[in-house]
Amino acid sequence: MSGIPHDHYEPSSRGEKWLHQRLPIVGLLYDTIMIPTPKNLNWMWIWGVVLVFCLVLQIVTGIVLAMHYTPHVDQAFASVEHIMRNVNGGHMMRYIHQNGAMLFFAAVYLHMFRSMYYGSYKTPREVTWIIGILIYLLMMATAFMGYVLPWGQMSFWGATVITGLFGAIPGIGEGLQMWILGGPAVDNAALNRFFSLHYLLPFIILGLVIVHIWAFHTTGNNNPTGVEVRRESRQEAEKDTLPFWPYFVIKDLFALVVVILVFWLIVGFMPNYLGHPENYQEADPLVTPAHIVPEWYFLPFYAILRAFTSDVPIVIFANWISFGLIDATFFGVLAMFGSIFVWALMPWLDTSSVRSGRYRPWFKIFFWVFIVNFVILTWVGAMPAEGIYTTIALLGTTYWFVYFLIILPLLGIFETPQTPPETIEEDFVAHVNASGKSDDGKGPKPEPVPAE
Ligand code: HEM
Repeated sequence: MSGIPHDHYEPSSRGEKWLHQRLPIVGLLYDTIMIPTPKNLNWMWIWGVVLVFCLVLQIVTGIVLAMHYTPHVDQAFASVEHIMRNVNGGHMMRYIHQNGAMLFFAAVYLHMFRSMYYGSYKTPREVTWIIGILIYLLMMATAFMGYVLPWGQMSFWGATVITGLFGAIPGIGEGLQMWILGGPAVDNAALNRFFSLHYLLPFIILGLVIVHIWAFHTTGNNNPTGVEVRRESRQEAEKDTLPFWPYFVIKDLFALVVVILVFWLIVGFMPNYLGHPENYQEADPLVTPAHIVPEWYFLPFYAILRAFTSDVPIVIFANWISFGLIDATFFGVLAMFGSIFVWALMPWLDTSSVRSGRYRPWFKIFFWVFIVNFVILTWVGAMPAEGIYTTIALLGTTYWFVYFLIILPLLGIFETPQTPPETIEEDFVAHVNASGKSDDGKGPKPEPVPAE
């Protein structure tokens, strides 16, 4: 962490000195792994490491799958069946990759919600946040294109619906859609380029993850209090932090083992639980499935996309002032991309002087409503776009935008936050005392309170 005094790597042997003078890579790795980390991090700080694991897992299993997959409309479906039936360990590889994508998204949402609750996006960590949003967008693009590859019914119709959205952009839409697909419809050209990009994008994500980690190593980690580590002297810094190795490595690995255990149970016993049975039928451009539903991790945005029908007043108004250019579909597309755009703007929309939500009584309430609303949007995204479901989607979408554009800026002005602790050490000691253990494991335990 910049500015925090700690031990740096000193090459000792002649060989180490030789390398260090030419390429200080061991020093870089040493500083990365020994980075002073706030000692009060809770279990919500494990998701970053789970995400790194997911990325590596997806790349490794994806490379093996690609060795047996054929990106051609006549053979794609059969080649996936071949992987499932004939390739040694093929069905395991495929199920890991398929469910791995779900674990990746579950972890990324928890990671983002954690950042939202503890104000990790606030200054000076805006760049970490923005790079995170870019990673998230690339994850969505990668997952969308990956889902097309097995060339099942949902692959084909999902791709048709989503690429059709680009066609809704006035003026340039039709040309843009054709350019994306490489032809007038989802066909061999589209399947080929989706395969190519699905292979490429994870490596771009990997590059961005390195920059993401570099960014938060520059500012230092946030922590549950939102109070910064003291940087003036080494003694003070050491009271607020512990080196990442071995303390947080052991903690993160323990959490990772638990997560992998649950993941393994799902892959082994219920690998198709969250999938769509239609995708086990080969794509047929002449048969439209009754409900075209994307994977669960896209559902909140699918709900936002479909919330705006042509009888919604704001759509009527937008249609009127744009001389008919903005119709309901295009409005839905704008709302869907806009919902992620306002999410990205959080560092500038949140005006509170206190960073962590732990000390913000009103923020907490609105935050939890946001989470419940996210779950409701996920649910309603899987329902048919009609009747009460459209109304619920519209209400949920309204809360989404009100939360970012109105509640967050106003809370900073009207809310009276509690006073956070002066230092991380203070929070840590209070926590240790409350748990009844000594903070270094050596000193005497505090006396238990005698029973009445
Ligand atoms: C492949 C995806 C990602 C990976 C591998 C990743 C990795 C990490 C890691 C290892 C950390 C430090 C440990 C932790 O806080 O859990 C971290 C911190 C952070 N991440 Fe991510 N991340 C990813 C995606 C995202 C996304 C999508 C966002 C938000 C848009 C985001 C926002 C943040 C923020 C704000 C921090 C700083 C938290 C702090 O300082 O404590 N990350 N990330």
